[in-house]
Amino acid sequence: MKREIEIFEHAGEVVKALKTGVLLTTKAENKVNSMTIGWGTLGVIWGKPTFIAFVRENRFTTSQLEKNPEFTVNIPQGAFNKNIVGACGTKSGRDMDKIKELGLTLETPEVISVPGIKELPLTLECRVMYQQKQDAQAIGDEIKKAFYPQDIDSCAPRANRDFHVAYYAEIVRAYIIE
Ligand SMILES: Cc1cc2nc3c(=O)[nH]c(=O)nc-3n(C[C@H](O)[C@H](O)[C@H](O)COP(=O)(O)O)c2cc1C
Repeated sequence: MKREIEIFEHAGEVVKALKTGVLLTTKAENKVNSMTIGWGTLGVIWGKPTFIAFVRENRFTTSQLEKNPEFTVNIPQGAFNKNIVGACGTKSGRDMDKIKELGLTLETPEVISVPGIKELPLTLECRVMYQQKQDAQAIGDEIKKAFYPQDIDSCAPRANRDFHVAYYAEIVRAYIIE
């Protein structure tokens, strides 16, 4: 069962959860894949409730989003298996089926084509409205040195050569899976 929520009433919970990681799930050519994200913005753009996710250019998730520009964001509530966020943040969907290996339960979506993850029940269904690759020239030196030091190859989980693509997505549904 899903309990619809007013997303901005849960804004603090969503933003706080980013500190330890939430899941961003994609689906393309029938492959469902979750990755952990720690960066995100919740707000209003073009009059629409919006979640902006930042995904490095060469992630497997980026290739999924190119094929199907929709994603779910799943936020934990209460006690949950922290290994889920750890594994989804260190293993790639390129090499494994994270959903199967971690025994994650898919929840049928309401509006988009990408399922949510029941184990992290607060769910946002998101549809990309606009995407923009970060302009390397416009990023200050201090940030560049800290986040893009260019010493880990682009396909590795801790890749740091690539800049991020910002995905501005309309939140088309928000609910808690019960
Ligand atoms: C706590 C945490 C937060 C993370 N946040 C992000 C993020 O916001 N953007 C990003 O591109 N990668 C982030 N990562 C790294 C990806 O989750 C990781 O590279 C993952 O293996 C990518 O999955 P994929 O190859 O299936 O796309 C984070 C990792 C952890 C552990």
